Amino acid sequence: MSAVIPFSEFMADALYGPSGFYTTGGHAGRRGDFLTSPEVGPLFGAVVGRFLDAQWRRLGCPDPFVVVDAGAGPGTLARSVIASRPACSASMRYVAVDVSSAQRVQHPEGVDSLAAMPDGPFDGVIIANELLDNLPFRLAVHDDGWREAFVVTLPDGGLVEHLSAPFDPVPSVLPAVAPLGARAPLQDAARAWITEARSRLRLGTVIAIDYSSATTAGLALRPWRDWLRTYRRHERGDHYLVAPGSQDITTEIAIDQLPEPDAVRSQAQWLQLHGIDELVEEGKRYWEQHAHRPDLAAMRMRSRVSESEALLDPSGLGGFSVIEWSAG
Ligand SMILES: C[S@@+](CC[C@H](N)C(=O)[O-])C[C@H]1O[C@@H](n2cnc3c(N)ncnc32)[C@H](O)[C@@H]1O
Repeated sequence: MSAVIPFSEFMADALYGPSGFYTTGGHAGRRGDFLTSPEVGPLFGAVVGRFLDAQWRRLGCPDPFVVVDAGAGPGTLARSVIASRPACSASMRYVAVDVSSAQRVQHPEGVDSLAAMPDGPFDGVIIANELLDNLPFRLAVHDDGWREAFVVTLPDGGLVEHLSAPFDPVPSVLPAVAPLGARAPLQDAARAWITEARSRLRLGTVIAIDYSSATTAGLALRPWRDWLRTYRRHERGDHYLVAPGSQDITTEIAIDQLPEPDAVRSQAQWLQLHGIDELVEEGKRYWEQHAHRPDLAAMRMRSRVSESEALLDPSGLGGFSVIEWSAG
């Protein structure tokens, strides 16, 4: 055996190392590898703009009002939030944060583009759309007790998995009884990230939007390929050890491993709370008034109908969780 590393280190290198998936340009988008809510179209950003206005007013209209888009990818959410011209625009400092320079070079004019979260304390909102699922996690495997998965690089370069001795003590989130071969993510990095983000805020909210399960046990009792997923060019990818760097590696978030949230809603509920239906109605009215001579604005307004269907779909993006924490 040569190098033996925890699965979390393998994942960090496969995504963010020198030949990592995100380092070499893997990204969200119709021409990318997977479709996220901001990439569906500008409607998602317009609803986020309304949410930002509600938060800005709740905090007493601070200036600057710092909006951190954490794990911003190519900056699509930034573009649509700014284009929606929220009332807080004049006070808003929009900070797009991404570890990958291949993503940062695509960030739009008018945002601060950073590799790491700005120092606090500041007043504002930190929003992480599909970031937590990409943070490296440790992998637990049930095989005569719960053990940790390590990745071994063989002398010929091949990769195999090696299991540690049983955990002692067993992490409390893991179910006592599980089938042979059951797996579960141990999301220390996601928990630490939320704690760190909250500590940067003097006043405000951290919001994470992701696919999730209420409990780790809920994940452990499902087939692991359901929640430990790989993606490449809009298709499910190969086993996670195959061709590292060529595919995304992602997990559903186990909410019971994160700091206690103030609110958890489905994405559909959250978008409705922040006015998606009103924006869709406005789009329909605009289209009806301009359908005889449609311009680009009219086409965009009409597309709100199909965008909202995708964003609210309970078996798709609408079923994601929107998890909120106040400053802490
Ligand atoms: C799945 S993409 C989501 C992109 C975008 N938020 C969206 O919804 O389309 C995750 C992004 O998070 C970035 N990322 C991963 N870890 C990060 C970290 N610790 N800080 C900032 N960005 C990170 C990746 O480089 C990648 O661009």
